Amino acid sequence: MTTDYLPEYAEHLIRGRRATRAFRPDPVPEDTLRAVFSLASAAPSNSNTQPWHVEVVSGAARDRLGEALVAAHTRKDLSLDFPYSEDLYQGTYQRRRQHAGERLYSAVGIGRDDHAARDAYNAQSLRFYGAPHVALLFTAPNAEVRIAADVGIYAQTLMLAMTAYGIASCPQGLLSFYAETIRAELGIQDRKVLLGISFGYADNSAPANTVRVSRAELGETTRFHS
Ligand SMILES: Cc1cc2nc3c(=O)[nH]c(=O)nc-3n(C[C@H](O)[C@H](O)[C@H](O)COP(=O)(O)O)c2cc1C
Repeated sequence: MTTDYLPEYAEHLIRGRRATRAFRPDPVPEDTLRAVFSLASAAPSNSNTQPWHVEVVSGAARDRLGEALVAAHTRKDLSLDFPYSEDLYQGTYQRRRQHAGERLYSAVGIGRDDHAARDAYNAQSLRFYGAPHVALLFTAPNAEVRIAADVGIYAQTLMLAMTAYGIASCPQGLLSFYAETIRAELGIQDRKVLLGISFGYADNSAPANTVRVSRAELGETTRFHS
């Protein structure tokens, strides 16, 4: 079997995935959902442990979860299973982060210093940027960084599988800032939540979806030894 076509397909697939922040309301058909999540389960993991647990939330349950998250945000009721601090990103990383933020906010017409409008935009993102579905990625209760890495690999495999099926997605770390709210809404006892991925069909007319962020030159991130 020839695989000569794969590099070109991979270019389209990997570069074709983008963080999408506006969606059409129509849901993904159930058989497509099953195909995508089955494909994602081919992701590799340490000793094939597959240490992810996924809750796919749609319809009325999705609406309730979005409302609960916005309410938790309003109450400032934050709860994180995996710690976060602004200090995680320093120097180059902080500059790249700022650049990505500026691209997004200018695309949606929010000024550089308009912190209130930025906060409001982020609060609204807790309704999954209007996506009809969200996948919440959980780990076991005792999970730490190595297991989180496996779940991160699963997350990218899932988003590429979605891209292949014409489904747009946005990974949203912000959703995991409300871990207790998510557990309460979904009836989860003690698993930790790492990430949410909102998904559906892209609204290609939305300004938010015109955002393009570049990547560092290869030499900035990668060294080849021989
Ligand atoms: C772990 C992770 C968490 C993220 N969290 C958020 C988020 O909370 N809100 C958001 O709008 N985008 C979020 N993003 C999307 C990134 O901003 C986006 O992937 C990055 O700017 C690169 O853009 P691209 O995905 O379009 O290539 C997250 C991405 C990852 C991988």
